[in-house]
Amino acid sequence: MTTSTHHPKIGVVGAGLIGRAWAMVFARAGLQVKIFDADAKALSACMGHIETLVQDMRAADLVQENPSAIVQRITPVNTLAEVCADVDLIQENIRETVEAKIDIFSQMDALTRKDTVLASSTSWLPTSLFTKELAGRDRCLVAHPTNPPYLIPLVEVSPAPWTSDKATQSAMALYKLVKQEPVLVRKEIHGFLLNRVQGAVLNEMLNLYEQGFASSEDLDKVMKFGLGLRWSFMGPFETIDLNAPDGVVDYANRYGHTYAEVSKTQADNTWSPQVIAQIERERRQVLSHDQLESRSHWRDRRLMALRHHQKNQPI
Ligand SMILES: NC(=O)c1ccc[n+]([C@@H]2O[C@H](COP(=O)([O-])OP(=O)(O)OC[C@H]3O[C@@H](n4cnc5c(N)ncnc54)[C@H](O)[C@@H]3O)[C@@H](O)[C@H]2O)c1
Repeated sequence: MTTSTHHPKIGVVGAGLIGRAWAMVFARAGLQVKIFDADAKALSACMGHIETLVQDMRAADLVQENPSAIVQRITPVNTLAEVCADVDLIQENIRETVEAKIDIFSQMDALTRKDTVLASSTSWLPTSLFTKELAGRDRCLVAHPTNPPYLIPLVEVSPAPWTSDKATQSAMALYKLVKQEPVLVRKEIHGFLLNRVQGAVLNEMLNLYEQGFASSEDLDKVMKFGLGLRWSFMGPFETIDLNAPDGVVDYANRYGHTYAEVSKTQADNTWSPQVIAQIERERRQVLSHDQLESRSHWRDRRLMALRHHQKNQPI
């Protein structure tokens, strides 16, 4: 795949939540996209979802083009063979089981050109778990998006030990081309980077809650009125670089021993069903079950506003 010399063509496999969002990301950037789903209903529903999505993005001034021009670049196709024919990259988004990924990757390996990059959106599974036996395993990798990828640009590119540098670099270049932010996971690890960091934060929140240090609402406030404000435009490393007059080493000299001490009291968490049920009850008092959907729309609007703000700032 040579992204510099032509407009890469994309195949999207699986037209659920993530597949259709990817289709929109690629089409928004001007690429031709084919999309396939084994469930005919999901395939026919996906174009309606994409249209609404693009119109919402247009309303939020996050796309400048006429929404119908974007939608027209996406072609639903009825077979895996059609979606695999003559594309530069396949983005796979089917259900999250090792068996399903093994099966779809072996079919895609047989149906695609030998230089097509095969990328999985899997949230947790390392590439080597489902590509080991493939003739074309050197062009397989994980490209894990963050939901929703049309608003949150991070893509974790995680190759297996046998993935070629060429495939990895092509994928990185392609995600940059479509205005996502790829990061390279240099060695395979379960859950990649984002979900591991998210897991560490959630485990600590659960521990603090379970041990009675604060309510779930106040713990959420720690993020939304505290850490989240900084973390929405810079990472924890840049944060500590700026939080002591002379940078990272200065910060570590001042506070490093305290963090090391605290880390001894930061235990694992078992996600006890009782504790989770208690948090659910507290959440339902703040937000009733029938308000979940409208609050999700509110979340998407807030994300759009934040992206809009970010896009106009040099970060
Ligand atoms: N939902 C998230 O927040 C999120 C975020 C990042 C990555 N992911 C990953 O993306 C992938 C898809 O997740 P989702 O949330 O879109 O799931 P989903 O259930 O919304 O969509 C999955 C789609 O795949 C289709 N499908 C199943 N088997 C198929 C097959 N053999 N061939 C073609 N289509 C098939 C289903 O009909 C369904 O439409 C998973 O691997 C998931 O871990 C999800």
